[in-house]
Amino acid sequence: MFSNTEIGIDLGTANILVYTKNKGIIINEPSVVAVNNDTKRVLAVGIEAKNMVGKTPGNITAVRPLRDGVIADFDITSQLLKEVMKKAGKTLGFAVRKPDVVVCTPSGATSVERRAIHDAVKSCGAKNVHLIEEPVAAAIGADLPVEEPVANVIVDIGGGTTEVAIISYGGVVTCNTVRVGGDLFDENIIHHVRKHYNLLIGERTAEQIKIEIGHALIEHPEKTMDVRGRDLVTGLPQTVTLNSIEIQNALKESLLHILEAIRATLENSPAELSGDIVDRGVVLTGGGSLLNGIQEWLSKEIIVPVHIAPNPLESVAIGTGRSLKFINKLQKAAK
Ligand SMILES: Nc1ncnc2c1ncn2[C@@H]1O[C@H](COP(=O)(O)OP(=O)(O)OP(=O)(O)O)[C@@H](O)[C@H]1O
Ligand SMILES: [Mg+2]
Repeated sequence: MFSNTEIGIDLGTANILVYTKNKGIIINEPSVVAVNNDTKRVLAVGIEAKNMVGKTPGNITAVRPLRDGVIADFDITSQLLKEVMKKAGKTLGFAVRKPDVVVCTPSGATSVERRAIHDAVKSCGAKNVHLIEEPVAAAIGADLPVEEPVANVIVDIGGGTTEVAIISYGGVVTCNTVRVGGDLFDENIIHHVRKHYNLLIGERTAEQIKIEIGHALIEHPEKTMDVRGRDLVTGLPQTVTLNSIEIQNALKESLLHILEAIRATLENSPAELSGDIVDRGVVLTGGGSLLNGIQEWLSKEIIVPVHIAPNPLESVAIGTGRSLKFINKLQKAAK
């Protein structure tokens, strides 16, 4: 018997990804939309729009409609979804067979927004639409045995939020969400550079600094990086040299917040699952798990093994796409 195409969409606040079983990840783009302010028309989405951030003429704005783990602009979010569905349709030929779609929504989405996301995807030609919680998708995508009665601890450090969840027997046993993630790391860096050097840098520069010389709270060989920005006193372009120790300090508070959330979740775990956690450890997913030294730092702090998922930026999308077979069971468990 032929089955419908099944596709999974990770509607992340930083990146939007589409996964199908046969073709793997077919779309992986930043969740950015370029809009003409006068006509309100969408000019570009994804990487093309991201390249416009901070560089656009007055009448074009490149916006991130999803921010800090919530949907900041719903209209633009649904236009982004529609463009992405269109692209996926071109690759997969939706005209032939309508797909079953599973969407992973940001954790801060309200029930009204979830319903609207459901409808927006349906109106783009989906046959059935299901929604899934991010930590569950992340766990499936990281190949954890979510259906078995063992504790799977997932820490998903995304752009907007970090979610820490214990999943066992197909359901979320306990979960903690904090609004700390890669975006806040970038903001911490922007703030540091402004305060200490009177220099204004953009979000993309901050992200590059984080990726290149950002470090979790462990000792490491010091690195430096030259950074250009606008001097706030003279208004002229200016270059400064930053070192990884000062960036580490700038990230400290945010990182400790994540650690606290992990500790709180582990402390809340049912006693029966504690043994599993000590044996099996914690799995990191999301782009934030690529921060230098984070695995080493966390395993030292929580004293249980810490693993990074094979493709941390893709785990949620992969899990979303593979989740259909679990979905009925998971939805029942969530109720
Ligand atoms: N090598 C790296 N080191 C540190 N951070 C990184 C690295 N690569 C990507 N990131 C960060 O990961 C974040 C994006 O991660 P991800 O795609 O998992 O987020 P998202 O799923 O869109 O967000 P959310 O789950 O909060 O909705 C960005 O902040 C990005 O800067
Ligand atoms: Mg995510």
